[in-house]
Amino acid sequence: MSKPKVFVTRRWPESVEARLSELFDPIFNAKDIPLDEAILRGALMECDALLPTVTDKVGSVVFDYDNPKARIIANYGVGFSHIDTEAAKARGITITNTPDVLSECTADIAMTLMLMVARRAGEGERELRSGGWKGWRPTHLVGQKISGKTLGIVGFGRIGREMARRAHFGFGMRIIVQNRSELSQDVLAEFNATQVRTLEDLLARSDFVSLHCPGGEDNRHLINQTTLNFMQPHAYLINTARGEVVDEDALAKALADRSIAGAGLDVFDGEPVVRDSLLACENAVLLPHLGSATRETREAMGFRVIDNLVAYFEGNEPPDKVVGP
Ligand code: DGY
Repeated sequence: MSKPKVFVTRRWPESVEARLSELFDPIFNAKDIPLDEAILRGALMECDALLPTVTDKVGSVVFDYDNPKARIIANYGVGFSHIDTEAAKARGITITNTPDVLSECTADIAMTLMLMVARRAGEGERELRSGGWKGWRPTHLVGQKISGKTLGIVGFGRIGREMARRAHFGFGMRIIVQNRSELSQDVLAEFNATQVRTLEDLLARSDFVSLHCPGGEDNRHLINQTTLNFMQPHAYLINTARGEVVDEDALAKALADRSIAGAGLDVFDGEPVVRDSLLACENAVLLPHLGSATRETREAMGFRVIDNLVAYFEGNEPPDKVVGP
């Protein structure tokens, strides 16, 4: 029997590509350039599986064909707001993702951003590298302490909980959370956390706010001019979730006006383009979507995709099915 033909939209870690080649008949994107919708649609028409990443906009137009061949989209990543799930569902296409394996590393990047922005590490590095450092002095680049402060976590799934673990046990932070569904006392008790009822309540009570909710239309501009107004002037916003969760024009204004103290962002609406108004903010730390970027995690993500494909092609339910019949 011939091996299933799988279309891999970006370069993956070598060990994972090698395994894909053993198990399947893969088409790789040797140049590792972002692909347009016509190519993605062609892949769905001619291959048995499409293996996209966050850089592929798998919108409704990608599903606009008559004779689908691919019946599964196995996403390399946990977030899948770049895929039109309704269009996939309407065509009976299964979608899988890669949860768990990136929770720790994504929380590490959220902590990195929180520390960098509160301790003004980005500003300090820029100053030193540009030759502008004039030496130690008591008033130089004074930031804010994070130990013992209140961290508000929006979305208390796997990544949110890893963030709570680091902040609570590593830095003695008080944890408050806002989550769509009610959390069990057991889950909250693990981090001595309190669930608050509304986003506004969380924003008003937090010294640091870290976003860990899904992206997509439901959460588009959850953080906007109105909700930013609830944050305290000394508070910081951290986003490692998805760019669209934050209205970046409103955020850039709040940063420029110093109505909040700073922001640490790893994700952007329309990335890799980052708006000039954010680039101009000294009180923002900006990273190029590094949340899951460790060798261990990127390999684990790839092997998780493979587990989903193997299950699917053996006629079993893929372990990480998020959409499908
Ligand atoms: C994820 O897994 O969602 C990362 O942000 C990369 O897509």
